Amino acid sequence: MTKETNQQWGGRFSEPTDAFVARFTASITFDQRMYRQDIQGSIAHAKMLTEAGVLTPVECADIEQGLAEIQTEIEAGDFPWSIELEDIHMNIEAALTKKIGLTGKKLHTGRSRNDQVATDIRLYVRDEIDNILLEITRFQEGLLGLAKAEASTIMPGFTHLQTAQPVTFGHHLMAWFEMLSRDYERYVDTRKRVNVSPLGAAALAGTTYPINRQITSDLLGFDRPAENSLDAVSDRDFAIEFCATSSILAMHMTRMSEELVLWASSQFNFVNLPDRFCTGSSIMPQKKNPDVPELVRGKSGRVYGHLMSLLTLMKSQPLAYNKDNQEDKEPLFDTIDTIKGCLRAYADMVPALESKKEQMREAALRGFSTATDLADYLTRKGMPFRDAHEVVGKSVAYGLECNKDLAEMSLEELQVFSGDIKADVFDVLTLEGSVAARDHIGGTAPNQVLAAVARGEKLVAAR
Ligand code: ARG
Repeated sequence: MTKETNQQWGGRFSEPTDAFVARFTASITFDQRMYRQDIQGSIAHAKMLTEAGVLTPVECADIEQGLAEIQTEIEAGDFPWSIELEDIHMNIEAALTKKIGLTGKKLHTGRSRNDQVATDIRLYVRDEIDNILLEITRFQEGLLGLAKAEASTIMPGFTHLQTAQPVTFGHHLMAWFEMLSRDYERYVDTRKRVNVSPLGAAALAGTTYPINRQITSDLLGFDRPAENSLDAVSDRDFAIEFCATSSILAMHMTRMSEELVLWASSQFNFVNLPDRFCTGSSIMPQKKNPDVPELVRGKSGRVYGHLMSLLTLMKSQPLAYNKDNQEDKEPLFDTIDTIKGCLRAYADMVPALESKKEQMREAALRGFSTATDLADYLTRKGMPFRDAHEVVGKSVAYGLECNKDLAEMSLEELQVFSGDIKADVFDVLTLEGSVAARDHIGGTAPNQVLAAVARGEKLVAAR
């Protein structure tokens, strides 16, 4: 008799696994977080086997009971995880067999860890997509509230990070809302390709038992059984797609973060981030650092990295399952944790932002932000737009020389550049006049921002 080999697959082995190799190949340290999905999948499989006459109802009840107890032990922190048992699947199966005896060994009939793990990950990702969707909605609701309150707060709008035209802060916040709506849709769409059942594909070719894949698919809330057994056990597109969707969201959040970091600086001084989302410096007593936006900006690095990891992991893999696939989990799980953390921080923080209206207004007054309005004014008086552009360019050059904004020049000063300029010009040179004039769907006028908020509220309520 040789030394003891692995109890789940050791039949053909003549020596136990090398201790290092056992640790090197094990996934239990990171796949144990899928315990609920693994148990859920096993119960569905056992029920289906019972309908097929492969298990008796008593055996099925024993399996269900045993698995329920195991779940309780895991949740109580009492479960003895074992590296020797390699992964979540074998840890649970061995515990079940220990608990209910021979019947535990029957659970794996007509199944393989290959379809089992694919099922577990899909269930796991599906559950987490649902959590992420809720968190995006919470973030968006916060944005809607803030945008409504800031619908007529004026700030400079930028292109090339140079003052361009005045906009309303509510309008800017609603731009963020739009990015998030697309992210929401992308997760909903990704979920469709996640929610397909691999169970029954077994190792790769299907199984000789009279299984009914529709039953397990329905029991687990999947939309349908996967079409092809080889594809079912080896497809990790859904994980890549989840990471791609998450990368786009992470990218959006870097843009928001960058703006918050700029706006919180004393150079911009547009917003106050609540103290509870900031930290100080151990050496410079005056500092209040925007750590949360900075960190969210930085977290994009690992999310993009995980997308690259998974693409590279799957590159050139021949069908069907390969052990490489075990490497899908850590990038995937870290993406989930990171995205949830970023969303949670922003959903908590953004509604608590305080705008500094005076400073925003003051900044909008600097930088000739109503220059386009003056050009439009001249065009309305009959001047071709290109000529109007030239006239305004000259007045801006003059303003730069004598350090005056357009609205600060006298009528006489302005008329030097064009006789078409009359006293009514000051209606368009004011910030309020400028934003109010952009009064169409998607424009920055306060009433249009309120209309966009109303549409946003409807969209979010319909989810
Ligand atoms: N721990 C493995 C994984 O995560 C489970 C599937 C193992 N299958 C196998 N035939 N070795 O991919």
